[in-house]
Amino acid sequence: MQKILITGISGFVGFHLAKKLADEYMVYGIDIPQEPQSIYTHRLQQIKDKVNYSHCDIRDQPKLGEYIATVRPDVIIHLAACTGIAASEANKPLYFDTNVLGFSNLLQQCSNNNVQHLIYASSSSVYNHLNEVYRETDEVENQLSYYGKTKRQCETLAANYASQFGLNCIGLRFFTVYGSWVRTDMAAWKFMRAVDEGKPCTLYNNGEVYRDFTHVSDIVESIFRLLKKSQTHSQLPAHEVYNIGHGSPVSVLHYLQTIASCIGKEPIIHYAPLPANELPRTHADTTKLQQAIGFKPVCSLESGVREMVEWYKLYGAGLA
Ligand SMILES: NC(=O)c1ccc[n+]([C@@H]2O[C@H](COP(=O)([O-])OP(=O)(O)OC[C@H]3O[C@@H](n4cnc5c(N)ncnc54)[C@H](O)[C@@H]3O)[C@@H](O)[C@H]2O)c1
Repeated sequence: MQKILITGISGFVGFHLAKKLADEYMVYGIDIPQEPQSIYTHRLQQIKDKVNYSHCDIRDQPKLGEYIATVRPDVIIHLAACTGIAASEANKPLYFDTNVLGFSNLLQQCSNNNVQHLIYASSSSVYNHLNEVYRETDEVENQLSYYGKTKRQCETLAANYASQFGLNCIGLRFFTVYGSWVRTDMAAWKFMRAVDEGKPCTLYNNGEVYRDFTHVSDIVESIFRLLKKSQTHSQLPAHEVYNIGHGSPVSVLHYLQTIASCIGKEPIIHYAPLPANELPRTHADTTKLQQAIGFKPVCSLESGVREMVEWYKLYGAGLA
């Protein structure tokens, strides 16, 4: 059985991916220690019997090296990161250490330990707002946010290891992911909780902000297929980047209304200006993804939100 190492396994995407891969692969996962009552700990509880979990901080180069040398994974799927755009501006050193230096440590350990395949999370935040639809061939040098800048640096570092050392790297530009077990710093969670508790929800720019919301099940399916492809095609180019987005932006106002209607309460809306580091609109062109794996995200906003809100009612509302 092949060994897959997922970094950031107790995170939102890592948790869902681990559940899917555990049926077919021997899954190893690393993350940093978390508070006992946090959503990370609850996610880990759900998967602990299916995966081999260890605490390991990707900023700790010697420990990471020792871990990878012991496990010897066939593929690493790197999801660990400091996430969130707003927080990145106030915590630049932490974001740099984790997202850039941590990723650089991982690349070096792939090279040291002869790991053949690395799939890593980038983000739609690498795009600027010059184009209406985002394509992988767009020029992406001027990110609005510090977070986006760190993700772009990951892409250039991966390209370097691919060309110099032949490491097969696949970068994934995720577009606003949502679904059950969503991160508590994301709008999805904040909206569900605020609507449920009758508190105001903040919408930027009169709700006229558009996001290409992508259900986590589509993210997981895309990664699964890319993983399979990397295993069966030995002649893959050494570094490829793919958009993973639904391909149909909707307004954040509509997103909130869909969530509120599933919860069964009217939202209270508070309007605020769009922060300078937020894109007004994101829209993924998924042609390249479709050509590579014969799949593009398919989950409609209505059914995706229903799945997320059902989870919230059953489980999420009780989380601290
Ligand atoms: N969720 C989205 O909408 C979205 C969009 C674009 C890109 N991404 C990217 O996808 C990946 C997964 O996102 P997510 O939503 O699951 O985020 P998440 O915050 O839920 O998961 C990230 C995980 O990384 C772990 N981590 C942080 N620092 C670490 C360190 N030093 N060592 C080891 N682990 C560490 C965290 O504890 C967390 O469990 C991230 O790289 C993120 O930047 C996510």
